[in-house]
Amino acid sequence: MAEVSLELLIAPELLRERVEEMGKRITEDYKGKEPLLIGVLKGVFVFMADLIRFIDLPIKVDFVWASSYRDGTEPGDLEVEVINIPVKSEDVIIVEDIVDSGMTLKRISEEVKRMGANSTRTCVLLDKRSRRKVEVELDYVGFEIPDLFVVGYGLDLAGRYRNLKGIYYLKSP
Ligand code: IMP
Ligand code: MG
Repeated sequence: MAEVSLELLIAPELLRERVEEMGKRITEDYKGKEPLLIGVLKGVFVFMADLIRFIDLPIKVDFVWASSYRDGTEPGDLEVEVINIPVKSEDVIIVEDIVDSGMTLKRISEEVKRMGANSTRTCVLLDKRSRRKVEVELDYVGFEIPDLFVVGYGLDLAGRYRNLKGIYYLKSP
């Protein structure tokens, strides 16, 4: 693959601070409950691992797999695995790394509601609001970002860069 140049967008310390705030908000909002966090793989795994350690409540954690980007920066057909998680009567928080068109999150959150969750909220680290194609309600948002393709902190370009500690955007040459 051709080399790409990466520019820092969100530094690791800033990510840590914001994720801590999000975890504390969830802790306050769900006092007395035991929410079920469902992460959307694969990109969410780093964010999810950090977020749950800032939630001071009994929680449950599960994952679904979804994919729309084949091997580049242009989305293809959305594939979402059949949700095989018992969500009935659960207070579900769907956790995503980034919302772009909104299709993935909308599809999963409708499915979770249809399956009889007691409540359904969404929690996303990055919101690329200007790219939205379908309306989807976001309850917890880390950062709103411009229309850039970003990698790092779990996010990839064709499988690469997930292990970077900050969020970087691809700079066109
Ligand atoms: P949506 O269904 O269009 O909202 O796409 C959301 C999914 O596309 C995210 O969960 C990511 O996996 C992927 N995605 C969207 N934008 C980016 C990006 O800038 N970098 C890496 N992955 C992205
Ligand atoms: Mg994702």
